Amino acid sequence: MPSPTYIVTTSQKADAVLREEAELWAARLGVPFVPRRARSIPDVCGVAGVEAALTITHLRVGLVMADGSDEYFFHPNMARMRLHNMDSGKGEPMITAMGLGPGDSVLDGTLGRAADAMVAARAVGPDGLVVGYEADPLVAALTIHGLATYQIDGRGLQDAMRRVQARHGDCEEILPTLATDSFDVVYFDPFFEHTIEQSQAMASLRRLGQHRELSPDVFVEAARVARRCVVIKQRKAGPYNAHPDVIRVVGGGGSRIEYVVLGDPFN
Ligand SMILES: C[S@@+](CC[C@H](N)C(=O)[O-])C[C@H]1O[C@@H](n2cnc3c(N)ncnc32)[C@H](O)[C@@H]1O
Repeated sequence: MPSPTYIVTTSQKADAVLREEAELWAARLGVPFVPRRARSIPDVCGVAGVEAALTITHLRVGLVMADGSDEYFFHPNMARMRLHNMDSGKGEPMITAMGLGPGDSVLDGTLGRAADAMVAARAVGPDGLVVGYEADPLVAALTIHGLATYQIDGRGLQDAMRRVQARHGDCEEILPTLATDSFDVVYFDPFFEHTIEQSQAMASLRRLGQHRELSPDVFVEAARVARRCVVIKQRKAGPYNAHPDVIRVVGGGGSRIEYVVLGDPFN
């Protein structure tokens, strides 16, 4: 599914500051800036001949579909609930699978909205390191901006967001350039072939993100880069159970997802 074509615009009553901000987004993403004036999003998109408008408002930056079906914007999804579960002793299966503790380092190869990365950043604390790569340029730009600016109280979530180092890039290209054993854990959360997520949040990310299947080589490179293990999120009993280097599978209670842990054949 190709990503929607889009322009950048503002809310209808934009001041000079907002307009300047929108022009910066347009330049950064290499797409046209179109003044909104008093027009509706469908009108602006119709005249420009695109499917969506990245709309810069004082409230947020979001990709609004011209047909009114959806708006994609950055938010922490279930991260706050997951931190609550961690703090109240209910556990957090992704952190258990990674074996994460303070000071550890994680490379997230499929960053998306970075909800998993922020949970990891809280677990590794200020002495740890979480770096994430996102292949889609618009998703990456919105995640980088959101991690730097989103405000939320409690559970150290905002501090954790600020510590995630988000970058635009394809993990298939990045991993071969990284040093052997340079991260404790390398993590992947590719889109499942058949979605089991009922959340609107994941549906809107599916519309933008990259769907190409990760190559077998990426797991070989990940195992070289990971000191401890490679962890892959999948639907329960999904395809990665068949990987020859599986050392354990961590699932959460009645959850429909699980985390496959690959041991490092280089250690
Ligand atoms: C299921 S989402 C990840 C969600 C993420 N774990 C979170 O917590 O928000 C998968 C993401 O990986 C990205 N992706 C897919 N293949 C990639 C690749 N080769 N390199 C980097 N990102 C990739 C997609 O564009 C999408 O944003």
